[in-house]
Amino acid sequence: MAKQQNTGVQTLEKIVSLAKRRGFVFQSSEIYGGLNGCWDYGPLGVAMLRNLKEAWWREMTNRNDIEGLDASILMHPKVWEASGHIQNFSDPMVDCKSCKARFRLDHLFGDMNEKKLQTIAKHLTVDHREHTKESLSEYILAQIEANEALFTQLVELELVNCPNCGTKQSLTSPRNFNLMFETYIGPVKDAASAVYLRPETAQGIFVNVLNVMQATRQKLPFGIAQIGKAFRNEINTKNFLFRTREFEQMEMQYFVKEGTDETFYEQWRERRINWWSALGMPKEKLRLKPHEKLAHYAKAAVDIEFEFPFGFGEIEGIHNRTNFDLSRHEEYSGKSLSIHDEDTKEKKVPFVIETSAGASRGFMAFLCNAYREEEVNGEVRTVMNLHPFLAPVKAAILPLVNKDGMQEIAEKLDLDLRRSVKTFYDDSGAVGRRYRRQDEIGTPYCITIDSDTLQDQSVTIRERDSMAQIRLPIEKVKTYLLENIECPVG
Ligand code: GAP
Repeated sequence: MAKQQNTGVQTLEKIVSLAKRRGFVFQSSEIYGGLNGCWDYGPLGVAMLRNLKEAWWREMTNRNDIEGLDASILMHPKVWEASGHIQNFSDPMVDCKSCKARFRLDHLFGDMNEKKLQTIAKHLTVDHREHTKESLSEYILAQIEANEALFTQLVELELVNCPNCGTKQSLTSPRNFNLMFETYIGPVKDAASAVYLRPETAQGIFVNVLNVMQATRQKLPFGIAQIGKAFRNEINTKNFLFRTREFEQMEMQYFVKEGTDETFYEQWRERRINWWSALGMPKEKLRLKPHEKLAHYAKAAVDIEFEFPFGFGEIEGIHNRTNFDLSRHEEYSGKSLSIHDEDTKEKKVPFVIETSAGASRGFMAFLCNAYREEEVNGEVRTVMNLHPFLAPVKAAILPLVNKDGMQEIAEKLDLDLRRSVKTFYDDSGAVGRRYRRQDEIGTPYCITIDSDTLQDQSVTIRERDSMAQIRLPIEKVKTYLLENIECPVG
């Protein structure tokens, strides 16, 4: 089996096209030309996304020290003052006065070729030989942050031109743009009724910490897990589901005593990378990238990155958020969020270790990880080798022909399996074509009912990746499937 060679861009295009054709993901409002940064999950996509979230939910809540929560998307506006989002959740951006395109400042340098970055470095009298392309662009950004006039200088010297239309001296100086979507509660649209669509689910957990503790009698250390939508008015949406304006997060906040935070941070970092790999991501496609520049709330932070077709990109962040959030909510709400420590008899605001994964971005990562093109008997076979627990359909029921009673046996088996697993019944076309249709959507097992079944009540089970076939008595099929599609985590 030889693998076909595609570039990263081609692979991503093929995945996006398959996702649409087979009903994983559609562009939002497509018949109106689409809405940038928003996507809809089709019949197979929603099934796979639910499986992914279920694997996370089991991992987090099938233990005694983590509770579940589902907080509202709209929250009291003071939440976002306390969290720092109103003040800090913004990206510096520049506009092109000529073509009106808008760019994030970090992307402007991040996407620049190495030669241009080196010319700028020379202007800044930096020895570029000591830097990688990445560290050069980070260095330049840090210089601009320290001295805003520097960017205007680079534009005037024509060292930074519009990357869209190429016009010289056309970029404005950087301005901050808040990423939160604003809307209004009630009939009056004024500052007093303004609320925000949450840009992260975490704050719903922080403001409920006492409610959860009182309701569950949990003591430190303990966690709260939540899955839900988050919204960010991203300036540049890109790469399919990677950076979108509406997406889903899977976040868990683990509340610990100060002094134990570093140990729990390390533990969660290990647990989380193991979770991604247990669901089928090979270790060489995952890496941990510590943050060089920490967010306003963090003492330590690391990204789990996956190798997408366009390169490594973050799929989850693990953060030591200290007691920043709870202390701020104490300050802004006037309610104590300190917790009594039975050992020291003191009341203290707990520290928080956060694991913040993207469900939508994780979904895309799993699609990319699974996509394969293989040559089989001179033909290209497209196969998604999704972990069976993530696969949207677990088994396809394929009567070889619609006669001699095969159909009846197949329908009976389908009805029986459906109570436990998602199946797909397909009786049209050559069986080889039917296998290929299932391979393409990642169905781990195809069950064929043939003329031998009529004699010995056994069926053929074909496994997706190896294409190996075994015979099994019909009554053993359900147990076989359930054993093989089991959730590997939680
Ligand atoms: N509570 C911390 C927090 O929200 P983050 O690193 O901004 O941290 C966590 O986001 C995760 O959410 C990311 O690792 C990514 O998987 C996902 N995410 C963030 N912004 C996203 C976007 N615009 N589109 C899709 N997923 C996004």
